[in-house]
Amino acid sequence: MPIGLVIHGGAGDVKADERAARLEAVRAAAQAAWTPLQQGRSALDAVELAVRSMESNPLLNAGYGGALNRDGVVELDAMIMDGRTAHIGAVAAVHRIEHPVALARHIMEHTPHHLLVGDGAERFAAEQGFALVDPVDLIAPRRRQLPTVAQDTSGDTVGAVALDSQGNVAVAVSTGGIDGKLPGRVGDSPIAGAGGYAENDLGAASATGVGEGIMRSLLTFRAVQALQDSGSAQAAAQQALDIFVRRFDGVGGLILIDRQGGIGIVHNTPFMPVAYVVGEQIVAQIAGQGMVGHP
Ligand code: GLY
Repeated sequence: MPIGLVIHGGAGDVKADERAARLEAVRAAAQAAWTPLQQGRSALDAVELAVRSMESNPLLNAGYGGALNRDGVVELDAMIMDGRTAHIGAVAAVHRIEHPVALARHIMEHTPHHLLVGDGAERFAAEQGFALVDPVDLIAPRRRQLPTVAQDTSGDTVGAVALDSQGNVAVAVSTGGIDGKLPGRVGDSPIAGAGGYAENDLGAASATGVGEGIMRSLLTFRAVQALQDSGSAQAAAQQALDIFVRRFDGVGGLILIDRQGGIGIVHNTPFMPVAYVVGEQIVAQIAGQGMVGHP
């Protein structure tokens, strides 16, 4: 059985002096997930491990270092979806959770619900033994220097998709959303079919970009369904992105993996840091910057 992994660190613009560090961030996330996947761990474990790694990186818009809302608070959304069961766990508008993706998985596995938000999500987390952090501790120093007025609207969410040795696919997504967003605004990331989607018969996809357009277009559902009649994962991803851009004025990108381990990576932003595996080798690239193709 083939296994596979693709990770992105968010579609948007990447400042020249941050490119090396963003490449390192996606490479480290891929490394955190790839070895366990090779050792037989599940796709679900792999995508959670990858996203946890990115949530800890202050350069990326997820977990510690997430974007600030209009009140100057980091407000986080995340989701995970298991292609084997088609179950979902998601969390939105939380301020005190260091790893929202872990809480999303806990919601999926330990409640009859799919999405918990805000105060209720945090109360559930505390009851279940998650540490609640001081919201100030989620603000990375670089974020304090940025104005909190819709300064960067790229929604550079992070995400991962994987295929494991049992033929199961999964997706995980995590984000701080959009800089300067209204408190309480929730984007695509915790919404199944928008920010992420996984279905074992077809594949799994993770989206990044401006959430409102991704929600309207159901970008990842569209990409996964396109695997039914596209010649390749890359063609399916491109087909979904084309509709997203043309019909929904979309800005962003997505990664896709199919049942055979074929991958698609597309975006219409200047850059999107990605990492994926070819053979045994992790390849990390800033997609858009001299990218020469992938399987
Ligand atoms: N794609 C992240 C967001 O718009 O919230």
